[in-house]
Amino acid sequence: MINKVIQISKEAGEIVREGFGKNFSIEYKTNSSNLVTEIDKKSEALIIDFIKKEFPGHSVLAEESGEHGSSSEYLWVIDPLDGTTNFAHGLPIFAVSIGVQKNGETICGVVYDIMRDEIYSAEKGNGSFCNGQKLQVNSNDDLRKSVLVTGFPYNISENPDYAFERFIASLKAARAVRRLGSAAIDFCYVASGVFDGFWEVHLHPWDVCAGKLIVEEAGGIVTNFNNEKIDIYSKQILATNDFVHNSMIKLLSNF
Ligand code: IPD
Ligand code: CA
Ligand code: CA
Repeated sequence: MINKVIQISKEAGEIVREGFGKNFSIEYKTNSSNLVTEIDKKSEALIIDFIKKEFPGHSVLAEESGEHGSSSEYLWVIDPLDGTTNFAHGLPIFAVSIGVQKNGETICGVVYDIMRDEIYSAEKGNGSFCNGQKLQVNSNDDLRKSVLVTGFPYNISENPDYAFERFIASLKAARAVRRLGSAAIDFCYVASGVFDGFWEVHLHPWDVCAGKLIVEEAGGIVTNFNNEKIDIYSKQILATNDFVHNSMIKLLSNF
């Protein structure tokens, strides 16, 4: 199955790459920060058509079109373009993210970093890889030497959920904090050891499904800010190399 997920991630990524920098229509979802382009929709339609042909009967949860079917033990969780704001503004940091669950457990995940042509993939119990190279989180246990990454929800004005306070506390405690604009890529950089930790206050299942498995299979850990085990529907996400996890829990659970 992983090879099929990689195949369709690349095909969808191709559509996104071809659309980058061209004219495309943009609509607002909930507010003027929350965009969807025609390319998000094209990418998603391609992925769903593929699943219908190759895995008829499997259920789907996709960001732009919601649920398709609900009776299968398999669920495909799809973000057809993670990093839409970057894409729409010409910043080349965005990805396709696809996770597949069986009976509620993620069994494989793929994040395609489109402009770097990097396929991050993981199968449950089989490790994580980037273009075939095995991934391992880093082993830094000192928060002061950490580079962290975060993101902010589109409804931050109405529902700040202490995102600003947590951001400031992390800036003071770590070496640096970055904000790339693609949660899927943030997870992959924790898996590859670039970042020591990634947190967000309000993510969605399609942001989390593939990336969470990729971090875990690279030796990292993913919980909420109270250090509790989470599923893909948790809004709070903390993904780390494991070594700085407790320090980050102390920092983030303080609010
Ligand atoms: C967003 C990105 C961003 C994160 C937001 C997500 P989208 O996804 O992953 O980095 O901070 O919370 O909603 O809308 O570009 O698919
Ligand atoms: Ca997303
Ligand atoms: Ca998206």
